[in-house]
Amino acid sequence: MNALPRHIAIIMDGNGRWAKRRLLPRAMGHRAGMKRMMELVDRTFSMGIGCCTVFALSHENFLRPKEELEELFGLFREYFSSETASLKERGISLKIIGDRGPLPADIRALIASAEEDTADGTRGKLAIAIGYGGRQDIVAACNRLVGKGEPVTEQTFRETLSTGTMPELDLLIRTGNEMRLSNFLLYESAYAELWFSEKMFPDFTVRDLEEAIDDYRKRERRFGRL
Ligand code: FPP
Repeated sequence: MNALPRHIAIIMDGNGRWAKRRLLPRAMGHRAGMKRMMELVDRTFSMGIGCCTVFALSHENFLRPKEELEELFGLFREYFSSETASLKERGISLKIIGDRGPLPADIRALIASAEEDTADGTRGKLAIAIGYGGRQDIVAACNRLVGKGEPVTEQTFRETLSTGTMPELDLLIRTGNEMRLSNFLLYESAYAELWFSEKMFPDFTVRDLEEAIDDYRKRERRFGRL
């Protein structure tokens, strides 16, 4: 039986389809997704898993229609304004990974202060990927290392990625009935166990998360060995 994963990641896919099936606007799907994300993140830390990375917006998602982006930005504003104090209280440090450049300035400021306010948290690490792309992150790490003129090893490379302070990714969950990585945590997923759910993200409950983790614990992880 494996120990609990030390780092899990979730691709929160299917908000739009969840809303469409209910004849609701896509924005309602994202709102339901945010609520679900908060429950799952809480459960992750209460179970004793130290690190959680969630995919909220990809680099490519910045090309979505302006109205949808505005709805998502509204949720980001709500989340960072209202959740930072609770994360801090629970000792969870928050980090946003990805290119935050295209975000509105007020959200960038909210993120910067949320990161600063929670930086001392030692009980858990929450990374929210916004404007994130795995390939872009790999290229940025290469450039940083080349700029330093230091030898590139697997360790220095891993530490230079935006998830560099987190332990190895153990379990990657994707909802929304799609079986691909979509440019998320490409390097980090090398030996991650994968769990795909047919459920749309707002329907993926804490019980589903627990099932994925129970299954992970029963898997045989060989890392290429016999
Ligand atoms: C993918 O579903 C989901 C997103 C692009 C947004 C995810 C955002 C949240 C769960 C809210 C996050 C909030 C914070 C504060 C981080 P989709 O829209 O691609 O769904 P579809 O594939 O069914 O169209």
